[in-house]
Amino acid sequence: MATAADTTAMRRAVALAARGLGSTSPNPVVGCVVLDASGHEVGAGHHERAGGPHAEIHALRQAGVLARGGTAYVTLEPCNHTGRTGPCAQALVEAGVARVVYAVADPDPRARGGADTLRAAGVEVEGGLLADEAEAGNAAWLTSVRLGRPHVRWKYAATLDGRVAAADGTSRWITSPEARADVHRLRAEADAVVVGSGTARADDPHLAVRGVDGAVQPLRVVVDTEATAVRAGARVLDDAAPTLVAVAEDAAADHLAGTDVVRIPRAAGGRGLAVPALLAALHERGVRSVLLEGGPTLAGAFAAEGAVDEVVGYLAPVLLGAGPAALGDAGITTIADALRLHVTDTTRIGPDLRVTARPASLPTTKEH
Ligand SMILES: NC(=O)c1ccc[n+]([C@@H]2O[C@H](COP(=O)([O-])OP(=O)(O)OC[C@H]3O[C@@H](n4cnc5c(N)ncnc54)[C@H](OP(=O)(O)O)[C@@H]3O)[C@@H](O)[C@H]2O)c1
Repeated sequence: MATAADTTAMRRAVALAARGLGSTSPNPVVGCVVLDASGHEVGAGHHERAGGPHAEIHALRQAGVLARGGTAYVTLEPCNHTGRTGPCAQALVEAGVARVVYAVADPDPRARGGADTLRAAGVEVEGGLLADEAEAGNAAWLTSVRLGRPHVRWKYAATLDGRVAAADGTSRWITSPEARADVHRLRAEADAVVVGSGTARADDPHLAVRGVDGAVQPLRVVVDTEATAVRAGARVLDDAAPTLVAVAEDAAADHLAGTDVVRIPRAAGGRGLAVPALLAALHERGVRSVLLEGGPTLAGAFAAEGAVDEVVGYLAPVLLGAGPAALGDAGITTIADALRLHVTDTTRIGPDLRVTARPASLPTTKEH
């Protein structure tokens, strides 16, 4: 039975886990808090980067002998396998921890079984505490393990009447500097930032992270079927971050020599490249989370494929009355087929409003 102290410790572990967003891929984000036998915090840590120590190891090192007889709170079931680091379940046993409380069971077949190992060693184990919150924090990794493709967060910036550009194609800057700074945080959390060829042509975007301390730069991806939108001198080709241009298998891409190019099958019967094949290629390269930055045409194609796991819309108190809508054709023609979402967060960002939502059929976090 979880006490208020259990919940407080786990909530802190969930917050610690979030510090790893954007730098642990292809591993999950994990946070851990250790309380001594009398309930005082003696250790805390998070998984900082792939190949580095797991959260439990950081927290146990800090706790030292004080972990003996205490409780460890971990956002993910402690791993049971020896990868680049040793099994955490074993480390918890050796530290003499009497009780382990975890939030989410490990769905990775290579790592699961940590709870059983702990129980077999006589440690009291409870799972499921704050599972919704921990799941939400680890959505990218859990999605990638369950679906075998990266988690996709689609972000757009629109006027209050839902336009992402004016009728003449100009779109800078619909939202405020504060909202744009917030987008850099989203980029820093993602393994890859993706745009379509239309956006590459219209905006020559840079797509790297600026102004976020310690950020790991995401892979910049341009979906450019015919290899005609990314030209020499494009801002996305500078050395601020790695870049990948996705082109059709038969596209003439000689001018992109020296640039990382991936060849993807064309969409069967549709326009552009096959979205599932694109996501599979990114997954193969270790990408577990994608920030899809549009434009509307490409976002529509992702939505049509059921490949939008989260929507982050920045709404500016601005009206345009004409110009493209945030989402292009997603193959929806009647209201019964509308993609219904569940709002998980609304926050004022400077003068703008940020709305975060998920498809209603996916697990959601509690509203606050
Ligand atoms: N405010 C915002 O949040 C925001 C964000 C981004 C863009 N924008 C604005 O949106 C406008 C550009 O949007 P856009 O809709 O024209 O371009 P887009 O969505 O960036 O790119 C669309 C292009 O991507 C290529 N593509 C490759 N695979 C595809 C697939 N499976 N499905 C669909 N397209 C695929 C297609 O061209 P090829 O097949 O020829 O490569 C297609 O024409 C600009 O005005 C830009 O400023 C606004």
